[in-house]
Amino acid sequence: LSANDKTNVKTVFTKITGHAEDYGAETLERMFITYPPTKTYFPHFDLHHGSAQIKAHGKKVVGALIEAVNHIDDIAGALSKLSDLHAQKLRVDPVNFKLLGQCFLVVVAIHHPSVLTPEVHASLDKFLCAVGNVLSAKYR
Ligand code: HEM
Repeated sequence: LSANDKTNVKTVFTKITGHAEDYGAETLERMFITYPPTKTYFPHFDLHHGSAQIKAHGKKVVGALIEAVNHIDDIAGALSKLSDLHAQKLRVDPVNFKLLGQCFLVVVAIHHPSVLTPEVHASLDKFLCAVGNVLSAKYR
């Protein structure tokens, strides 16, 4: 991520903080509807619209993204525990990180269309790829 990318990502996240639960739940719901195989990782969740579990989980996911933005020069360090969890315990297939990232981009685009200029879109995409790479770095 260039210095410019980092600035762009931080700008986007000033709009996200305060909506972690809403945007997180919407991101997950879009992912489950658009890419049904992603649901296989959540057999223990109620996946209906408005589910309390989706809201709680969405808040955690966006919280982790906020944590990554707050440590944008050391995303691997900031998400180290989550990386252990996703790669070693959950064994989430790495393709799924791209799908979740795409759904998050859509949520940002819908709620903040004027923020998502082509440049900002590209920066946010790079950031989400970086997060996905960190979460899939520890497969053994
Ligand atoms: C758990 C973040 C992508 C499946 C979690 C937790 C966080 C998180 C913060 C909670 C950890 C805890 O409770 O200690 C993220 C981030 C992602 C991402 C930031 C990408 C940007 C994915 C994807 C999948 C997935 C793509 C599968 C399609 C799971 C599952 C759990 C989990 C199954 C455990 C849920 C539970 O039983 O409570 N993730 N995640 N994650 N994640 Fe992810």
